[in-house]
Amino acid sequence: MSRVLFLLLLAACPWVYAQSKAPPKSGQCTACHGVDGQSRIPANPILRCQHEAYLVTALQAYRNGNRKHPVMNNIANTLQPKDINTLAAWYANQPGCRK
Ligand code: HEC
Repeated sequence: MSRVLFLLLLAACPWVYAQSKAPPKSGQCTACHGVDGQSRIPANPILRCQHEAYLVTALQAYRNGNRKHPVMNNIANTLQPKDINTLAAWYANQPGCRK
C-alpha cells in the first residue's frame, strides 16, 4: 500500500514542480483558465499545451486592442511584454504536453 502511495507521489512530482514555478501573474488567470490552464469552464479557453507563439500573439492582440474582449483586454493591459512571454511559455510547457 505505501508503495502505491509513494508511486502516486512520484507521479505528481512534475505537476507539483511546475506549480511551484508558476509565474506570479498566473494567479490572476487561475479562476477562469484553471491552475494549469486546463479550464473546466466551456466559455473559457484551455491554455494548457497551446502553442507558445499563439499565446503570445493572442495576449499581445488583447493588449493592443486588435482582439476585442472586455475582460481579456483589461487583464492584458496589466501585463508587461515580459509577463506575456513568461505566461505563454509556462502554459505551453505544462507537464504532459506532446510537443
Ligand atoms: C474573468 C475570466 C478570465 C480571466 C481572469 C482571464 N481570462 Fe483569459 N480568457 C477569458 C475568456 C472568456 C477568453 C475568451 C475571449 C475571447 O473570446 O476572445 C479568454 C481568452 C484568453 C486567451 C486566448 C485563448 C485562445 O485560445 O485564443 C489567452 C491567451 C488568455 N485568455 C490568457 C489569459 C491569461 C494569461 C490570464 C491571466 C493573466 C487570463 N487569460 C485571465 C477569461 C479570462
